Amino acid sequence: MARIISGMGTSHVPGVGAAIDNGKTDEPYWKPLFVGFEPLRAWHRKHVPDVNIIVFNDHATSFSLDKYSTFTLGVAETFKPADEGWGPRKVPDVQGHPDLAWHILEQLIFEEFDMAVAGSLDVDHGLTVPLSIAYDQPNQWPTAVIPLCVNVIQYPQPSALRCYKLGQAIKRAVEKFDQDLTVGIWGTGGLSHQLGGERAGVVNPEFDKVFLDNIVSDPLANTRFTHTDFIREAGCEGIEMIMWNVMRGALNEKVNEVYRFYHIPVSATAYGAMILENT
Ligand code: DHB
Ligand code: FE
Repeated sequence: MARIISGMGTSHVPGVGAAIDNGKTDEPYWKPLFVGFEPLRAWHRKHVPDVNIIVFNDHATSFSLDKYSTFTLGVAETFKPADEGWGPRKVPDVQGHPDLAWHILEQLIFEEFDMAVAGSLDVDHGLTVPLSIAYDQPNQWPTAVIPLCVNVIQYPQPSALRCYKLGQAIKRAVEKFDQDLTVGIWGTGGLSHQLGGERAGVVNPEFDKVFLDNIVSDPLANTRFTHTDFIREAGCEGIEMIMWNVMRGALNEKVNEVYRFYHIPVSATAYGAMILENT
């Protein structure tokens, strides 16, 4: 039987990838962030699952806004880093896990989640930056990856509760897979940030702390936030936080928080990361 052993939440700010790719991690702006990554990376060196399910959003990179699905699962053998305007990042291709991905897809559809399926998908910073945060600059990524895209950029987005329920269904699906695999699940994005408009630059450490505390001990509280709550409290792009709910829903009711890191500013955002182990 396959089983989910751990979860990680992390922001996916593209500038973090650029800092790694361009050798800037020791510069004064970036250094405190990368010092904060050290315990996270040490944990990842010791806990490498066979597969990571990475919940992220495509930032209108591979999808165009005239055809945008709510939830999309990637079933390909390989996913290439996307060209987001300045050439693809020079990071390894991402190896998929088609057998597990098709199994999860089938189970989710049987459970009435109307998933879209991606037989090919170039993956943008939403997926490659978290890989770099966890694994730095290897010649190949140490795990297979199943990409799961959530629409957080075009109205109407799924609710925070729907995302949590999707995570719960993923947990059930993984546990029905008959190969002995260890699986990690990552929720990416956030935390509070707004990239444009009158409130560009908004960050809200108090709201972020409530959200992170809830992730550990009261995850249902995070399913009751509406989109308006996220926009008001965490800025327009703060809605990316609903992707952490997919991750949390896929874990056990009780989890151990093994690492938390919060740092402002990273680009226009409050950076947050958290590692959770199933108890
Ligand atoms: C930034 C953050 C994001 O989550 C994103 O997708 C793009 C840019 C930023 O702060 O620069
Ligand atoms: Fe983003």
